[in-house]
Amino acid sequence: MSRRKFLLSTGVATTTVMVTIGTGKAATDIPAMVATYPRKKIAKLSALKADEPLNFEYPDEGAYAQSMLVKLGTEAGGGIGPQKDVVAFNNFCTHQGGDLTDSYKADTKSMGACPLHLSTYDLTRHGILISGQAYQSLPQVLLELQGDDIYAVGVFGLIYGRFDNLQG
Ligand code: FES
Repeated sequence: MSRRKFLLSTGVATTTVMVTIGTGKAATDIPAMVATYPRKKIAKLSALKADEPLNFEYPDEGAYAQSMLVKLGTEAGGGIGPQKDVVAFNNFCTHQGGDLTDSYKADTKSMGACPLHLSTYDLTRHGILISGQAYQSLPQVLLELQGDDIYAVGVFGLIYGRFDNLQG
């Protein structure tokens, strides 16, 4: 057996052992973990006014599900509508869960400062951190527009206090 064939065959054997250790099952027997988010109607586009946030809960009514929808009046990452300016975010700081409800700032299109350690998030750029103690972006609620109806369809990022966005 050549050196190349030997390395290839032992590599395959190692991979197979690693997959089966701890589960007793081959990789093909393990179902893939895929999160299926509820599709939830949260507002009418025609009813939104620029810089006037609307609170809602998503993806469920569990802990830390409170979120807000806002028409920024300027194009934003993930924005929907004719101006791509309607976005939604979870209301809880990714650092230690500070409550950001009603902290939207129209002049900077941001949320914060967090009441605990002052983190501030940019809503035009997927909730990226502007300043403060947090090191993860604010979870963005993914939106779809159907006619005049706005639907929440998923969450980009992990909601504070959860090990899975759909399970507390
Ligand atoms: S909890 Fe928000 S910055 Fe610490």
